[in-house]
Amino acid sequence: MYDDAVLPGTVRFPSTFTLGASTAAYQIEGAVREGGRGVSIWDTFSHTAGKIADGATGDVAADHYHRVEEDLDLMADLHLAAYRFSISWPRIIPAGEGEINEAGLAFYSDLVDGLLARGIDPIVTLNHWDLPQALEDRYGGWRGRETAYAFERYAEVVGHTLGDRVAVWSTHNEPWNNSFSGYGSGAFAPGGTRHADALAAAHHLNLAHGLGVQALRRTISRPDARVSVALNIFRIEAESDSPADREAARIYDAVANRVFTGPMLRGEYPADLLEDTREITDWGFVRPGDVETIHQPIDLLGVNYYEVMHVKANPAPAAASEGGTEFPGSERVSFVRRPELARTAMDWGVEPRGLEEHLVALSAEFPGLPIMVMENGAAFLDVVELLADGTRRVMDVDRTQYLAGHVAATHRALERGANVVGYFAWSLLDNFEWTSGYRPRFGIVHVDYDTLERTPKLSSHWFAQLCATGVIPELAATAVDAELGAGALAAIHVAP
Ligand code: FCB
Repeated sequence: MYDDAVLPGTVRFPSTFTLGASTAAYQIEGAVREGGRGVSIWDTFSHTAGKIADGATGDVAADHYHRVEEDLDLMADLHLAAYRFSISWPRIIPAGEGEINEAGLAFYSDLVDGLLARGIDPIVTLNHWDLPQALEDRYGGWRGRETAYAFERYAEVVGHTLGDRVAVWSTHNEPWNNSFSGYGSGAFAPGGTRHADALAAAHHLNLAHGLGVQALRRTISRPDARVSVALNIFRIEAESDSPADREAARIYDAVANRVFTGPMLRGEYPADLLEDTREITDWGFVRPGDVETIHQPIDLLGVNYYEVMHVKANPAPAAASEGGTEFPGSERVSFVRRPELARTAMDWGVEPRGLEEHLVALSAEFPGLPIMVMENGAAFLDVVELLADGTRRVMDVDRTQYLAGHVAATHRALERGANVVGYFAWSLLDNFEWTSGYRPRFGIVHVDYDTLERTPKLSSHWFAQLCATGVIPELAATAVDAELGAGALAAIHVAP
């Protein structure tokens, strides 16, 4: 089923390699009206009829806000070396700019202390999409340049408070989804559907990144702290070497990948992107000096990887259309669904090989820049088993295999010389998966959404062994060691 064999017990990561798990504020915290938190665009969006599967919202989510201590203990049990979480901007500055909410800062400050007390390094993302609604109302959100300056001030406030303790900082998580899904296709908050707006949003996110990196450098004091950005740089593979298929790959790569890596890492917007989007925008939102501001040295590149994007030319492109399509130029690109691949519950193809090739290629493209896999994981249907002794277990063999395959692929990339320094499982907990609501479960720890009870899944036992030893564990051994094979089966519940 998978194209990677995991060698039992012999593959070891160097001790400097960071293994951890990721979450994001809106997906796990809940408590949206507590602790002085302001409204975010995801509150508004999730409360808008028809936007989210089953009408789900992040109001309660995994209730992490109230269960921080329990979750910290869980992380310690999993031997995580690091925990990547995001900060809810409206918890810190409820109106996006202006008044600071000390209770919000205290929540994250305590979280950071709780991590350090357990020997877990804190890794912070400043923007995982939950923009204060006030900035959407005032400036059009990321469509507006002012939002980038508001972000700079927010970064400075957080850097000032947590900068003595946080190990790694990311300005943004996946600005691609933030801009193109948020302002172009309309799939994500705030639901905008103009490609010109998506491009403006991308630029303002880039600008905010540059301003944010500078704000962090001014305020952080932990000597070994590193500053980064988490990009979902797509691994794009053309179906053939034909000029048409390669052109489709180029179009997609320009608008999805190089629109961010160009200004951030090379100091320029790609000429082909400007040309491709000429009829959509004159790029007048790029002011003199912006690209220099964006092009700040960073210490680390975060990469989120889930699947390979197989593309070919669309033989009969419909006329270019405005909103609702995924990205400008998408009418010329076809996504190929490879029938031979195993697929997750998100219908994403399982290809660990893609991660290996990606890490090797990115290392060659950006020499000297260490790469951290900041997200990788899978949704599968989980079965919760209630055992006769009253304990519960989730034997998520498919997710464990997914993780094992991708961890092994990361290790192979390392052996091939890729400059990869860490791997983070998405996600620590089952959580609010954006427009898909609570249906897909990505957690290595199961969350019962009625009781909010946490049940570590087989994958978490496997991951804990990996984190504790640095050695990629054998699957069968994990189950036995965790005594998950024991106990008579009393009942089976299929999680919705
Ligand atoms: C990524 C997001 C993350 C999560 C995973 C499944 O695009 O960064 O929040 O939803 O996908």
